[in-house]
Amino acid sequence: MIRLVDIHKSFRGQKVLDGVNIHCRKGEITVLIGRSGSGKSVTLKTMIGLVSPDAGKVIVDGEDTTTLDRYQLNEMRRKFGMLFQDGALFDSMTVGENVSFPLREARRYSKTEVADMVREALAEVGLHGIEHKMPSELSGACASAWLSRAPSCCRRRSCSTTSRPPASIRS
Ligand SMILES: Nc1ncnc2c1ncn2[C@@H]1O[C@H](COP(=O)(O)OP(=O)(O)OP(=O)(O)O)[C@@H](O)[C@H]1O
Ligand SMILES: [Mg+2]
Repeated sequence: MIRLVDIHKSFRGQKVLDGVNIHCRKGEITVLIGRSGSGKSVTLKTMIGLVSPDAGKVIVDGEDTTTLDRYQLNEMRRKFGMLFQDGALFDSMTVGENVSFPLREARRYSKTEVADMVREALAEVGLHGIEHKMPSELSGACASAWLSRAPSCCRRRSCSTTSRPPASIRS
């Protein structure tokens, strides 16, 4: 489903990715482990087209995404969910507004459809019925960590990426 083929990336002469090959198959969980600064986040960003490699191919569902234009890249990114580090939420928005943020931004769905999808996504991560709460009302890191998964579920992404998943997700 996702293949990085001989990826090279340098920043200002500093080589970060030196011929990286990764194959992530559908239904599998792929874990990148490495010391701080070794290039894990750069690898994830390369996968979703936020960083363009100096050389190599990024194949997503059979398509080399390094050749896509800006518009096509945005479409391709819809396949990906990105889980926020430390369950980051917008403090000024309700849980429902946080979860539906990408949906509302896409402007493709009616209010009723968005509400249904939010309800479904929260239920999927075991947090049904909390859409009207504010993030500060949630009980502890665990809830917000699970909640960070909901936006990804909400858009039914075929692939979710995360840097440093919170402990409740790791377990
Ligand atoms: N946009 C950028 N411009 C310049 N250097 C960058 C950029 N992005 C990453 N780097 C450098 O690339 C190297 C790898 O960074 P990266 O963020 O991928 O590390 P990491 O493995 O995710 O580390 P951590 O475990 O701390 O999150 C670092 O030396 C970093 O400073
Ligand atoms: Mg990182």
